Amino acid sequence: MLILTISGSLRARSSNTELLRAAQLVADPSWVFDHYDGLAALPPFNPDLDLEGSTPVDPVRDLRARIAAADALLISSPEYAHGVPGSLKNALDWLVASVELPHKPVALLNASPWATHAQASLVETLTVMTTRIVHEACATIPVTRGDLAADGTIASTEIRAALRAALDVFARDIATRGVNAS
Ligand code: FNR
Repeated sequence: MLILTISGSLRARSSNTELLRAAQLVADPSWVFDHYDGLAALPPFNPDLDLEGSTPVDPVRDLRARIAAADALLISSPEYAHGVPGSLKNALDWLVASVELPHKPVALLNASPWATHAQASLVETLTVMTTRIVHEACATIPVTRGDLAADGTIASTEIRAALRAALDVFARDIATRGVNAS
């Protein structure tokens, strides 16, 4: 199982990014994690640059290749002004007309219990993009500044237990329905 993680935050000490990194620590050791960190390198989406037969720029090619290689996606995002951060939405826009995303199993994590608008918006966007959101594996797992160690990692046993529970559900769903079931 190759899991691609995408954090919607570009912050160096992002709680969402650290949640995704902590997920790797508690996941089944056979799972391989690829932590995508290319959001800031993507150009603003422009359909004129994404015409059929055109060669996308390197950052877009890299994003699509990593989505294609992944068996499933784990996304965790903050909310800005009641919406999805522009950099994450921009990445999703680059995937709208591509063939890599449809039917991929997706679980959404959320490091803040207040970020309900962005979470709902992500569900809507990823649903219309025909990913397979595993709702039972989506989890809001509050991470506060105090949960981050000096090196940014999350040591809290409660957070790790909540992550493990979400990943167990995700794993069971994927084992039952496969990685490309619609
Ligand atoms: C925020 N934050 C925020 N939170 C929220 O629940 N609703 C919101 O509308 C906003 N809006 C917002 C705008 C801007 C410009 C900033 C900088 C922040 C708070 C933000 O989502 C929160 O601090 C997250 O925990 C940050 O996530 P990372 O970067 O730690 O992953």
